[in-house]
Amino acid sequence: MNIILLGPPGAGKGTQASRLVAGRFMVQLSTGDMLRAAVKAATPVGLQAKAIMARGELVSDAIVSALIGERLDQGVGAGAIFDGFPRTAAQAEALEVLLAARGQALDHVIELTVDEAVLTERIVGRYTCANCGEGYHDRFKQPLVAGVCDVCGSTEFKRRPDDTAATIATRMAVYRGETAPILPFYETRGLVRRVDGMADIEQVTAAIEVILDG
Ligand code: AP5
Repeated sequence: MNIILLGPPGAGKGTQASRLVAGRFMVQLSTGDMLRAAVKAATPVGLQAKAIMARGELVSDAIVSALIGERLDQGVGAGAIFDGFPRTAAQAEALEVLLAARGQALDHVIELTVDEAVLTERIVGRYTCANCGEGYHDRFKQPLVAGVCDVCGSTEFKRRPDDTAATIATRMAVYRGETAPILPFYETRGLVRRVDGMADIEQVTAAIEVILDG
């Protein structure tokens, strides 16, 4: 089972991917996470990507497609959840080639439909535990004890440098201009399913589960 979670910044792709991983033995392939790890480790890819990501623009198709290919070669258990990839027509074509070369194909493209007006609030309010990566939000999901991670007890938290109002505007524009236009490519093949990304997190997961079990 290989699926793509598609939606604008803040739609809940990462949130839903990690919930599906926990329940289904699938693997989350987030190009955003891979690139942030490369930036942190100051690899050649990370050094190229850092400023581009800070501006909210897209890293090159060749770089992200290579990251996905390398990750697929490590095996993906019960299947892959592509989170934040593909983001351009060229990446969609690259994914076809990468999967076909491994005797695989896509099962579903799940579009999380959201009201853009709420996304900025979702994004500027989010932060993660600096130790274990658990996600929180200033309004929607606060730690049970203020300042202490529910999962690991750490008191260190961090925010993404691209989660500013100015960068979010660029990321939204890039989604509308580059990523949303790939939907028809998948629609013609009958792969697209839509889920209301404005519903509660648990309800969104349940709707995705129905599709995966259908
Ligand atoms: P990436 O890391 O992929 O960021 P993004 O697409 O902007 O998506 P986000 O991580 O911001 O949002 P999400 O949909 O995962 O939402 P989340 O679950 O966190 O990419 C970052 C950058 O890397 C790009 O700008 C680009 O530069 C580069 N890059 C990455 N991939 C690339 C590629 N393929 N090609 C080229 N460049 C690439 O949820 C957001 C918040 O909302 C959280 O606080 C969450 O708790 C909350 N929330 C989620 N769901 C709900 C809900 N249903 N109700 C209420 N709150 C919710």
